[in-house]
Amino acid sequence: MRLIIENDYAAGSVWAARHIAAAIRAKAKVSDKPFVLGLPTGSTPLGTYRELIRMHKEEGLSFRNVITFNMDEYVGLPADHPQSYHRFMHENLFDHIDIPASNVNILDGTAEDLEAECASYEARIEAAGGIDLFLGGVGEDGHLAFNEPFSSLVSRTRVKTLTYDTKVVNARFFDGDIDAVPSLALTVGVGTVLSAKEVLILVFGYKKSRALQAAVEGACSHCCTLSALQAHRHGIVVCDELACSDLKVSTYRYFKDIEKDNL
Ligand code: GLP
Repeated sequence: MRLIIENDYAAGSVWAARHIAAAIRAKAKVSDKPFVLGLPTGSTPLGTYRELIRMHKEEGLSFRNVITFNMDEYVGLPADHPQSYHRFMHENLFDHIDIPASNVNILDGTAEDLEAECASYEARIEAAGGIDLFLGGVGEDGHLAFNEPFSSLVSRTRVKTLTYDTKVVNARFFDGDIDAVPSLALTVGVGTVLSAKEVLILVFGYKKSRALQAAVEGACSHCCTLSALQAHRHGIVVCDELACSDLKVSTYRYFKDIEKDNL
């Protein structure tokens, strides 16, 4: 696993956006096949999305041959609900870039048969050639997508019950009303994320420091599903200084030193 330690949220977001843009351009140089990009929601990726939009508008970065798959979606929220991840993605990324609508894939939390929706999502990912790069964030308890602690580390897309902790944290998007936060979500599994050719996880801020510590220094364990990234061949975590607050000094120095010449 690589750990890229940037000064702050802004610098980490730019690093991530540049990395994604470089990957899209690198594939386009050698292949006509679409670049398949996994995407998260949450406050964490907003800076990365802003930078990707800027690169699209000012530097000609095109998403015309990019297919996206979002990580998760609440069960029961229609696509036009203000807190649906459909709405979030359109407002914060898709409406500002040149991605064809038919290339966007987001789980349908209103599907009549939720299990069939999850199975078809996995099939669609496979049909697209698998995910080239999965971008993600992390919950305060170390969850990846909506794979709460004790989720199977080989799980695939399925229905998950949200923990009370996650509902409390996400209540900020529902006027502070925990009861308004859906109790169920559809989410890609840990195994789905790990099947991507590359995984890039953003971890910013002091509130995420315990999750980062567990994921980087702890054992690979279902207690912190992000720690499964340790078993990926091309896992990268981009974090800021505040998120390093719980790392050992030696760990911090190791990654600062080994990455110092990598941009
Ligand atoms: C939710 C999402 C995760 C996200 C997490 C952190 O639980 N399902 O994918 O990583 O929130 O959110 P934030 O980035 O707002 O801290």
